[in-house]
Amino acid sequence: MRTRLCDLLEIEHPIMLAGMGGVSYNRLVAAVSDAGGYGCLGASVMSHDQMVEEMTATRALTDKPFGVDLLTAAPGDMEAAVIAIAEAGANAFVAGLGVPRKVVDLCHELGLLVINMCGRVNHAIDAVDAGCDIVVAQGTEAGGHTGRVASFALIPQIVDAVGDRVPVVAAGAINDGRGLAAALCLGADGVWIGTRFIATPEARTVTGYKDRLLSTDSDGTVVTRAYTGKTCRVINNDYVAEFEASGAMADPFPGQVIKTFTEGLNHLGGDEDTLGVDPTREFMPAGQGIGGIDELVPAGELVERIIAEAKIVSGVLESISSN
Ligand SMILES: Cc1cc2nc3c(=O)[nH]c(=O)nc-3n(C[C@H](O)[C@H](O)[C@H](O)COP(=O)(O)O)c2cc1C
Repeated sequence: MRTRLCDLLEIEHPIMLAGMGGVSYNRLVAAVSDAGGYGCLGASVMSHDQMVEEMTATRALTDKPFGVDLLTAAPGDMEAAVIAIAEAGANAFVAGLGVPRKVVDLCHELGLLVINMCGRVNHAIDAVDAGCDIVVAQGTEAGGHTGRVASFALIPQIVDAVGDRVPVVAAGAINDGRGLAAALCLGADGVWIGTRFIATPEARTVTGYKDRLLSTDSDGTVVTRAYTGKTCRVINNDYVAEFEASGAMADPFPGQVIKTFTEGLNHLGGDEDTLGVDPTREFMPAGQGIGGIDELVPAGELVERIIAEAKIVSGVLESISSN
């Protein structure tokens, strides 16, 4: 199951943990990297100092490669962040909402690979033209901020557009080895998995989040601007229903994030000890793969299972083609 993504990131398996803000902290990141995948810290809701602490804690748990994802940063802050990321020994910087060319150049000077999240073909072309080393083709099924194009349409189109220049990683509702095998069949070089990794003991969440993941059906998510001001796929709940029915306009990002945080609707970054969480109103990003998740599985075991399942699927494909 080795692909050119494995060579570039210096990992064993083409499975990447999404850098989920509020969820992908050191224990989860280290568990995925230790299992031969690629752990990625979700630093979007961390302060600079917390990000440095988390990177140090990750390095203490594993000597394997890991990356850091920043959804966005104020102008000027991104440079300081990537310098700290390189100093901490990570080998990739993931830009959730785009990355200026001068930051790409700085990353390269510091020896960091640059990975960009893409929901449209032109995003991928622009990212590669700006010097990004890997693109993630994220379909609308994905949890968190997401676009409108479905993975089955998006992945091969991005592969055709930039796959001769950089590795393409598939994202959106990938839960298991069937998803990995399918992504490889579409021409991707690996997978970037979010929601499935929330249902692990190592993932950081507030109380009730993992229970909701296990009990929600595949049609139980919705894309809304209600929490962040940007289109974001979340577990549907009373707050979202009321917001959508009211016809209210969300404040532009990041204003709506600040608003919902202040109103006690957004505890991303909190843990089991966080008080004041009402699951019927809380911000719980998740993808459409949610309906296929019915147990918590340790993250390292999940990586091993995904590889074993993908090998079975590739054996099935071979037997079909040889008949
Ligand atoms: C709880 C949560 C938080 C997320 N936070 C971020 C983030 O901070 N930066 C980012 O680039 N993507 C973020 N995402 C999107 C993921 O990187 C990834 O693309 C997505 O989870 C893949 O789809 P899946 O959840 O169906 O596996 C987040 C997703 C979730 C579910």
